[in-house]
Amino acid sequence: MDAFTYIDGRLLCEGVPASALADRFGTPLYVYSRATLEGHFDRLSSAFAALGPLVCFSVKSCSNLHVLRVLVTRGAGLDVVSGGELARARRAGCPDGRIVFAGVGKSRDEIAAAMDPPIGWFNAESEQELDAIAEVAGRRATGEDRRPRVALRVNPQVAPDVHAYTATGVKGAKFGVDFDEARRLFDRFGTGARAPITLDGLHLHIGSPIYETGPYVEAIRGTLALVHDLAARGHAVRSLNIGGGFGADYQSARSPSARDYAEAIVPLLRERVGAGLRVLLEPGRTIAANAGILLTRVRYTKTVPGPAGPKRIVIADAGMQTLIRPSLYGAFHFVWPTDPGVALVPARRAEDPGLPGLARADLVGPICESGDFLAKDRPLPPLAPGDLVAVFTAGAYGMSMASNYNSHPLPAEVLVEGADARLIRRRQTIDDMLAAEERG
Ligand code: LLP
Repeated sequence: MDAFTYIDGRLLCEGVPASALADRFGTPLYVYSRATLEGHFDRLSSAFAALGPLVCFSVKSCSNLHVLRVLVTRGAGLDVVSGGELARARRAGCPDGRIVFAGVGKSRDEIAAAMDPPIGWFNAESEQELDAIAEVAGRRATGEDRRPRVALRVNPQVAPDVHAYTATGVKGAKFGVDFDEARRLFDRFGTGARAPITLDGLHLHIGSPIYETGPYVEAIRGTLALVHDLAARGHAVRSLNIGGGFGADYQSARSPSARDYAEAIVPLLRERVGAGLRVLLEPGRTIAANAGILLTRVRYTKTVPGPAGPKRIVIADAGMQTLIRPSLYGAFHFVWPTDPGVALVPARRAEDPGLPGLARADLVGPICESGDFLAKDRPLPPLAPGDLVAVFTAGAYGMSMASNYNSHPLPAEVLVEGADARLIRRRQTIDDMLAAEERG
């Protein structure tokens, strides 16, 4: 579901034509729909309502302060993975108790920043990190009630069908600890231990995007068996954070809905919640991906001899520096002109070869790498210099992974609210980009 729709042959974002946004703010441009962000957050929250979860939006997926504010106002907590994301969460007005801090390599300075004032949970990923959290907490001589609350990230060793770079809960991954190590670490830091931290939670995140419910069920069942073992050793587990990774609709409606995930997961946890377990979720993509598009303008086109005949290349002003997912993971993003006319409106977000006059083309960027493309070998309407193209489902891991590669300034971001659009990040200038070096 999202609020990007073709009406009378032109793309609207909520009530605003995409072309008007590009004319006003320039390209490349990330455009977010507030109603879509809120709709996705609400749907997920209500699907899991039986567990009364704290839904912590994963800041890494879309870290703009204004987007975070929209979700925090709606009741979201935030999942952060660095001191920078922690600062974003605080500036976005997120109550400290609704912040969770994950990541395998937190520095002592980042840990200290998260204790002042104390956040909701640290998600610790190794014994040495637990030592570091305890060391920083010990130095602060805080009272019992201000001891940092920590959840241990476990690796449940399940293998969902995802790209190798985004499978995090498989054997040999750098994330979390295995169940044996978890038992040992609870004996060292859990209930009854004299460490200046409260280790009473477990955390898992098995990868993303996961288009099936089975891996969640397997991972949660395994982790609940661990909770049972820990209880037998005298350790209370008061929170379980099941991570994120729920799908988004990159191509038509391939992803299970929030309700589908909830139907598989809620029954596993309902009773425990009744007995006092706090459940947390860390979704990013399923909230933000379909709430954003990337607008890019065609600069040039050309035809080159290809292995199977002439091949059309469409060169746009956005590329891997703007949206790296196609280059990094071979990820599919549906791309289509914003103003194709009524005869060429695609029925769904996938190849639609039934439409008239389509020809295969690569949509590429200006970067000096062959891996720089947004879409490969797609049936597209004719495109000419100056035409505007929308790259869909770009709201998650789009702008947050954009770079200055080839010294292109970062794009601007706009938030649409009904008939209004406001700039929520101005376009970087070349002077902005060079400032740290000139003043360094
Ligand atoms: N929790 C943890 C601990 C994570 O590492 C992640 C994502 C999430 C939650 C949120 O996952 P989501 O619900 O957004 O799928 N850059 C990649 C994905 C890497 C995700 C890293 N961790 C992409 O463009 O697909």
